[in-house]
Amino acid sequence: MTDRRDLICGNWKMHSNHLEAIQMIQKLHYRLEPDTYERVEVVVAPPFTSLRSAQTVIETDRMQIGLGAQDVFWEDEGAYTGEVSAPMLAKLSVKYVIVGHSERRQHFGETDEMVQKKIRAVLRHEMTPIVCVGETLDQREEGRATDVVVTQLRGALSGLDAEQVGGLAIAYEPVWAIGTGRNATPDDAGEMCEVIRNEISELAGSDAAESVRILYGGSVNPGNIKAMMAKRHIDGALVGGASLDPDTFAAVVRYWI
Ligand code: 13P
Repeated sequence: MTDRRDLICGNWKMHSNHLEAIQMIQKLHYRLEPDTYERVEVVVAPPFTSLRSAQTVIETDRMQIGLGAQDVFWEDEGAYTGEVSAPMLAKLSVKYVIVGHSERRQHFGETDEMVQKKIRAVLRHEMTPIVCVGETLDQREEGRATDVVVTQLRGALSGLDAEQVGGLAIAYEPVWAIGTGRNATPDDAGEMCEVIRNEISELAGSDAAESVRILYGGSVNPGNIKAMMAKRHIDGALVGGASLDPDTFAAVVRYWI
């Protein structure tokens, strides 16, 4: 068996100002018994504007909650109005950066090539990318789900060495399951996560495939997380809506209770 540590990350998307973020993190902290962190790495990814406040509250109260960002630009600095760079995030003690979320691909035209450049920027600054892949409903109904996911994966990971690939987190998020209340069945999710691990073995070798963490995302809630986590190739979850309420997110994180 492997020693991959569970990773559960709350993606807050465009929700909460910095004052709300402080309260949400404090509440979450009080709801997570200390033994939680022996089993699972807990990360929250608030909007950029809340990162500094989140960092301060986490460090001041010596919380074990990790900090994530929802996106990054690939250049370190320059004339890129509105963008935020990897060194800026690293300076805020950000550990994880979500890259290639389907909402960014859909609304902001992100391509596999852009995703790849962002992954490299995150790795250059010693943070961990959470690389999102996943098919749309049309693609699934046309029987192309696996092809789409494998293509996204190859595009995103091209040029990385085996050690870099082994350190990544990959989130399988079927687009049709995001924010719809319609999660993939644990069997379907587990199967796609196995496809992803096999593909990583092809691309980067078996050591990388054994150590890479593969998360499921899409309508995760306290009622379905346990069955997801029971799947051999699912090492965690990327949680949207259910991460916004600290009680609900705590119940997701402590899925074995
Ligand atoms: P929901 O959990 O709201 O479906 O969102 C999933 C997601 O997109 C996490 O990144």
